[in-house]
Amino acid sequence: MSLASLAFPFAKPLLHQLDAETAHLLTIRALKMLPASHAATGDARLAVEAFGLSFPNPLGLAAGFDKNAEVPDAMLALGFGFTEIGTVTPKPQAGNPRPRLFRLSEDEAVINRMGFNNEGHSAALARLRARRARGGIVGVNIGANKESADRIGDYVAGIGAFSGVASYFTVNISSPNTPGLRALQSRGELEALLERLNAARERQDLRPPMLLKIAPDLRDDELEDIAGACADGAVDGIIVSNTTLSRDGLRSHFKGEQGGLSGRPLLSLSTWQLAKLRLLTEGRIPLVGAGGVHDAATALLKIRAGASLVQLYSALVYKGPALVTEILSGVAQELTRSGASLSSLVGSAAQEIAHQGLSGT
Ligand code: FNR
Repeated sequence: MSLASLAFPFAKPLLHQLDAETAHLLTIRALKMLPASHAATGDARLAVEAFGLSFPNPLGLAAGFDKNAEVPDAMLALGFGFTEIGTVTPKPQAGNPRPRLFRLSEDEAVINRMGFNNEGHSAALARLRARRARGGIVGVNIGANKESADRIGDYVAGIGAFSGVASYFTVNISSPNTPGLRALQSRGELEALLERLNAARERQDLRPPMLLKIAPDLRDDELEDIAGACADGAVDGIIVSNTTLSRDGLRSHFKGEQGGLSGRPLLSLSTWQLAKLRLLTEGRIPLVGAGGVHDAATALLKIRAGASLVQLYSALVYKGPALVTEILSGVAQELTRSGASLSSLVGSAAQEIAHQGLSGT
């Protein structure tokens, strides 16, 4: 067990007495002090090949935890098969005024309206260059500055800056906290964006795979448009999903806060959208399932709904870093019990989930 996992049960009550963002900043500081040796490769049955990359296991850290690429190696050392830094924007950006991050403990959820606070491309790039020789799969999630006059240009700049160090890119057009950003998901805008990004990729020596990250709050016709715009190799994968603007069935007194909701209450909506996208793309584009994963059963649910890979963030706040090995050993046990391979499970329940949805979480 890692030092971080051993420390979490003692640290949690203290951290949870603090404002959520202060707790996060302290956690990052503590993780920076840990020795960052990568976890042993582990169970070969958990390995995943997707978009030309070999993942040691299917569980990754979602964007937003390590916005400035301060702790990718500490996160890989916890056992994650991959980690995603960002969202990074070309210029440093302060984000929205605090408080802007809320723990909804009764709901095991989080609401954030951070607004892409980050130190900008150059700071993240310097850190990623310095750790490059360590290997491991480190994705770079790119976005646009709030005040940018050319949002597409900001994403193009991200491709130009990080192509030499990113294992993959995530094009984040689904944050609810930058006004107007989600409009890039509409068919015309998305096609224009992907065309410019693919042209920018052509100009690079190295061309890491490019994923698109979408919101869970899309109508069926919008989801169809995205599947259409992403066909024919326009992207290498799709992450479903970012946080939601919906607010169903919450108990916490923070439920009225503005921003994106993540964690357990996002599980059913994001998994339903994932299954629908799996059917629309007919298994031709690898999907990454994110939203409400909090144990092995929910990780397996994402895989059965159509995810080749799974990401989480919010559950770490409640369960701590031991969750990573708990999920991976639970998935491995399921493979032993069923005799199935991981790849044979991908999408095995997509029809059922897409048509019936998931009641409750
Ligand atoms: C996020 N998320 C996020 N996503 C993204 O693409 N760029 C970002 O900068 C952020 N920032 C961010 C901050 C905070 C505080 C949270 C909780 C989340 C969304 C995240 O990557 C993920 O898609 C959702 O949180 C759903 O997964 P979980 O948290 O339910 O496991």
